[in-house]
Amino acid sequence: MPNTEYHPIDLQSVKGTRDFYPEQMKIRNWLFTIWRNTALQFGFEEYDACVLEHAELYTRKAGDEITEQLYSFHDKGGRLLSLRPEMTPSLARMVLQRQKALSFPLKWFSIPQCFRYERMTRGRRREHFQWNADIIGQPAEVAEAEIFSLLLMSCENMGLTSRDIRVFVNDRRILNAILSRINVPDQQQNQVMIVMDKRDKLPADAFAEMLQQQQMTAAQVEQLNDFLSCQSMEELAVEMGDSTGLTSLRQVMEMVAKSGFGDYLQFDVSIVRGLSYYTGTVFEMNVMDKSQRAICGGGRYDSLLSTYGGDSVPAVGFGFGDVVILDVLSDLKKLPSFDNQLEYMVIPFSSEEIGMAVSISNQLRHKGKSVECDCSLKKVKKALQRADELKVQTVVLLFPDELAVGEVVLRDMKTRQQENMTITRLIENAI
Ligand code: HAM
Repeated sequence: MPNTEYHPIDLQSVKGTRDFYPEQMKIRNWLFTIWRNTALQFGFEEYDACVLEHAELYTRKAGDEITEQLYSFHDKGGRLLSLRPEMTPSLARMVLQRQKALSFPLKWFSIPQCFRYERMTRGRRREHFQWNADIIGQPAEVAEAEIFSLLLMSCENMGLTSRDIRVFVNDRRILNAILSRINVPDQQQNQVMIVMDKRDKLPADAFAEMLQQQQMTAAQVEQLNDFLSCQSMEELAVEMGDSTGLTSLRQVMEMVAKSGFGDYLQFDVSIVRGLSYYTGTVFEMNVMDKSQRAICGGGRYDSLLSTYGGDSVPAVGFGFGDVVILDVLSDLKKLPSFDNQLEYMVIPFSSEEIGMAVSISNQLRHKGKSVECDCSLKKVKKALQRADELKVQTVVLLFPDELAVGEVVLRDMKTRQQENMTITRLIENAI
């Protein structure tokens, strides 16, 4: 009887999301291991939260693009929930919940999967993993220096150098000072900065038009463009005098130079960041000519916790996504090759030897060896071909005649040399 209930399903993953087949999983694990180990090396502690949050956590401060990109829905209890688009609000929520009990400063990291309904372009998908590292409760610039050291040490652990990448840094207080200088009222400055963040992606006249929609005059737009064309902190200081932001950023730069990562940092007055909770240092990492979407972004956000109703706690950190960095490493041919690391493959000749094959495999595994027990009873030639494909180091062949005298045949897959060995010695030798 034909099955009339059969409906073929769409085999594609949801648009903008990725499947991780074993070959992609190896790359992902390699990257996550570098992120995790570097964070642990710097004394950061790992935390996590559920991917589902109350949508309100993200929509309280309207205006950010991210609030328009939420994957949100009502659950069966009528709650408006959202898949997290970023980790920082969850981190703030967790810290607030235990604010009285925690001892600050906290150095926390996480590798959450995040969801944003983005327009899909190179480097931007609807789902990504994002390494987050944040220091909470440390107001001084030394926190920024530590965050930059962590970020750049992880990049060096991936094989990148200051010839490959740059961290473009700025300070929100510099931008506030510029806007005040050209008479943009305080309460309008956040909206103007949201537009300024898009400057790189817009033609000059579209940028000007968007600023004018924020009640800026043509003269103010021109003045702003003049400030944004400053190439260095010195040039900016000449144009507008010193400011808290400039002084603070200078200290950050000096400390990063002492930490040995000074070559990676570059002042860039056009860095704004799309999220409105930043209050001080802001930065984005990219390749030297900025031809990619940001590899990593972050900054200081000293008032986020207080906007959620807690005491104000200073904080600084970054989000470093897995999508762009893998494109960059692949373009630079810096991705390692991921061979299988199987040490043994045990192959029984017939069903008679399967029991012994399983026993030998587990004895080797007890000794800490990685072992594939291939009981598919293929022809030996085919089984050896598979061992070659899996890059197995040694094959253990179980033939009836040898087994009858307590021996197996060992084949070194590199040299193709074979030798007989007793099972007892095989296990003893496996150290
Ligand atoms: P963000 O700039 O929105 O900042 O994202 C940080 C990084 O996540 C980006 O630089 C990029 O690597 C990656 N990313 C973001 N959206 C996508 C996407 N659609 N597809 C692929 N990768 C993406 C934040 O999320 C802040 N919460 C970071 C932070 C932590 N600031 C302080 N602490």
